Amino acid sequence: MSTKVALLGFGTVGKGTYNALTTNAAEIERKTGKKVEVKKILEINPKVIESGYAPKELFTQDFDAILADPEIKIVAEIIGGMDLAKEFILRALRAGKHVVTPNKAVVAANFDLLHKAAAENGVQIRYEASVGGAIPVIETIRKSLVANRITKVEGIVNGTTNYILTKMEEDNISYADALKQAQAKGFAEADPTADVEGIDSANKLSILIAECFGVYIKPTDLDRTGISKLTRDDLRLAVQNGCKLKLLASAERLEDGTINAFVKPTQVPMESPLSTVRNEFNAIYLHCNMADKILLTGRGAGKDPTGSAMAADIVDLA
Ligand code: HSE
Repeated sequence: MSTKVALLGFGTVGKGTYNALTTNAAEIERKTGKKVEVKKILEINPKVIESGYAPKELFTQDFDAILADPEIKIVAEIIGGMDLAKEFILRALRAGKHVVTPNKAVVAANFDLLHKAAAENGVQIRYEASVGGAIPVIETIRKSLVANRITKVEGIVNGTTNYILTKMEEDNISYADALKQAQAKGFAEADPTADVEGIDSANKLSILIAECFGVYIKPTDLDRTGISKLTRDDLRLAVQNGCKLKLLASAERLEDGTINAFVKPTQVPMESPLSTVRNEFNAIYLHCNMADKILLTGRGAGKDPTGSAMAADIVDLA
């Protein structure tokens, strides 16, 4: 018997999730003894449906039928955006389905609401793919580092901006051209303002703070500066200072419980491994009272890396 999953949306991450589950189906079964099958894909765009990426008979426009299907135990929300995504997540949870999402904006803005809805309905909301793309950071915080007090979390959590800064510095191209490349590669949000103004990083930092410290801070309450005003001169100046300019997200829990958190362009010394994180790669340092410092790094955006993290949550739930 296989566990049946529905995907809501078949854009970049939808395709990546489908790809990870189908290409590596045998690998998943070998490791877990479980079969996971995509039973339905909610999608309205005829071009996407006709693309041949997934069999046409999987596609539906009927969300209610997905909710009413007792075989479908897991729903992956991958439509993006805010209001409709939130509504779909809540309706799926209330229908008794586990929900998996890469939607950091919705998770960060509704952290308590979504967890409460999941708990009330005896299901889980999972969002490994929402922070750091392929990097298994939430799993690491929750499981591998469970016996640690995490005192600080810091890193590079937006692929688009790291890609832009890398290309501006290494290829000497303009901010606008670098952004266009990041969009063409499928790294950027639908509205890249969220990336370049640090909003996406603040969403991810809010989630990391909640996971690491058990405290919820609204992303809109975090200090935030983006990269849209940076010039190639700023990047050159950082190098002259023996540093690399990176959009850093950081949160530190002080002894008295206060949390100091920010997202801002920061000169990172060359000695720090964070300075060597290039292109769309992300990296997250976890400062722990037992394990000491743990550095996790990997591709922070893109179809298959994000699909890998989505599939991990889906298989774990299965
Ligand atoms: N726009 C995001 C980024 C996608 O560039 O990091 C992955 O969350």
